[in-house]
Amino acid sequence: MTSDPIDMRNAPLIRVEQLVVSPSFKDDLKGILIPKGYVDARIEKLAAEISETPVKGDLLAICVLNGAMHFYDKLIGQIAQPVEVDTIRLGSYRGTSSTGLIREYPFDYGKCQGRDVLVVEDIIDTGRTLEKLVGKIRAENPLSLRVACLLDKPERRDPTVTLKPDHVGFVIPDLFVVGYGLDFNNRYRGLAHIAVLQDQLTRHNPKSE
Ligand code: IMP
Ligand code: MG
Repeated sequence: MTSDPIDMRNAPLIRVEQLVVSPSFKDDLKGILIPKGYVDARIEKLAAEISETPVKGDLLAICVLNGAMHFYDKLIGQIAQPVEVDTIRLGSYRGTSSTGLIREYPFDYGKCQGRDVLVVEDIIDTGRTLEKLVGKIRAENPLSLRVACLLDKPERRDPTVTLKPDHVGFVIPDLFVVGYGLDFNNRYRGLAHIAVLQDQLTRHNPKSE
């Protein structure tokens, strides 16, 4: 049984001075949407739910880099099954908007054949990244295939995307979030909490890798 994601769409933002936030990030943040402890508690539950699903051999858990790395590390450390770790690197973001062009780094999809596969992603936005990735894995005939995703922004979904993740941590509003591994132009990944950036930073939408 999987539980519904926790809906944070109407949650008030926590002011940065109400929690411990690195001084180098403070001025850039509008507020904190999900404090670290809340994220950790939810990941513990996702790991318990993943552990309840029977697998044949070792679970092949694939981390989608770079954003999912903190989530992945916390999650697999609590899965009560033997896990084989792997990573895949994809990218579709420039600034705060998905380019739709998914950059591909080499990955041997063939290793998913006949395996119980778990894809671990940070956030689903348009859903194009995950849908493409899941399609490629499915083409290799895995024994089973599940997707765990920490955050979901359903308001942003591309209407042509049909993929539904199996394990979701939180549903969030259509806001650009950083922290807990998520970045904006490669900054803020080390921020402990999941936070919303100030509008003026995201409005200009600077180009970046
Ligand atoms: P999609 O293909 O539009 O679903 O894009 C998904 C990818 O964009 C995720 O894997 C993230 O790496 C990135 N992304 C989407 N929304 C955010 C956000 O609010 N903050 C940081 N990265 C994001
Ligand atoms: Mg990602």
